[in-house]
Amino acid sequence: MALNNLLKKDLNFILFGGKGGVGKTTMAAASAIRFAQDQKTLIFTTDPAPSLADSFGQEIGNEPTAIKGVKNLFAMEIDAKKVLEEFKEEYGEDILDILQQGTYLADEETEEIFNLDIPGLDEVMGLKKITDFMESKEYQLYIVDTAPTGHTLRLLTLPELLDDWIKFLAKTRWRYHYIIERISGKEIIEKADEFLLEMKKTVKRVRNLLQDAQRTEFIVVTIPEAMGVRETEDLINDLQKFNIPSGHIIINNIFPNNDCQFCKARRKEQGKYIKEIKTLFPSFNISEVSLQTEEIREVKKLNQLTKILF
Ligand SMILES: Nc1ncnc2c1ncn2[C@@H]1O[C@H](COP(=O)(O)OP(=O)(O)OP(=O)(O)O)[C@@H](O)[C@H]1O
Ligand SMILES: [Mg+2]
Repeated sequence: MALNNLLKKDLNFILFGGKGGVGKTTMAAASAIRFAQDQKTLIFTTDPAPSLADSFGQEIGNEPTAIKGVKNLFAMEIDAKKVLEEFKEEYGEDILDILQQGTYLADEETEEIFNLDIPGLDEVMGLKKITDFMESKEYQLYIVDTAPTGHTLRLLTLPELLDDWIKFLAKTRWRYHYIIERISGKEIIEKADEFLLEMKKTVKRVRNLLQDAQRTEFIVVTIPEAMGVRETEDLINDLQKFNIPSGHIIINNIFPNNDCQFCKARRKEQGKYIKEIKTLFPSFNISEVSLQTEEIREVKKLNQLTKILF
């Protein structure tokens, strides 16, 4: 099947994305089982409502947890909100410093700015944790089960968002430097500068990784319905806009072609959308997965799906 050619590539990072409820977690989990046959694999999610534990049918913590019955496979649920809190604890003072020294805002005002929800910063922090992990080289392959499309898109555009934010901080910072150096004649390098550098490095690392065709692949999961086709188009447009390598679509929940009249009718309707997806994305590898009679949960059933996907 179509996912097989990914086994030949030497990938380090595979993401599964698509609209809510189409089967991302299930496809990611089943694929992880196959990839773990050849390399030590870590599957993780930054979804605020994580479901890997449900899919594998075992408890999974916020540290890598071995999956029972699958050699070389570990899973982790990253609580991005918690990572962000830790980060605020470490750097919060410095950010406030920058804002207070570089602008003419009152304390309460800067406090207010700092507490604004910077959209998606929690997810960047989740990604930061992942890139830190990658540098440790403990695993050969990292698989991400992403949050539903809205979040995913935010996650993809984030490096840019964060970059703007850093530019703003750097500009304010620079103004402060300029004034102090004029007055005192001294050059100042403080922890706040370190923070800006650290953030810049993180943004760069995440972006480089996401755009690296040798190491990264984004697999789009969808269902054969009008909405599914539209969301797939939007997602693939964004992936291309941000140069994120993607060449695989999994169409899930296809009705079986059996004697059941209801299934036949649905299958016929789905056929139109399957054809449309194939016409819209002629260069993509398309895998078709039929709707099973039961939920696909726990290693035994995930294994059956692995055979369909590979
Ligand atoms: N082909 C299939 N046949 C039967 N059940 C399926 C199939 N694919 C997925 N499921 C079931 O559908 C449910 C939703 O799947 P899953 O959790 O993988 O979707 P998701 O895209 O990750 O959802 P969310 O957007 O909420 O994270 C699960 O209970 C899963 O077992
Ligand atoms: Mg999911």
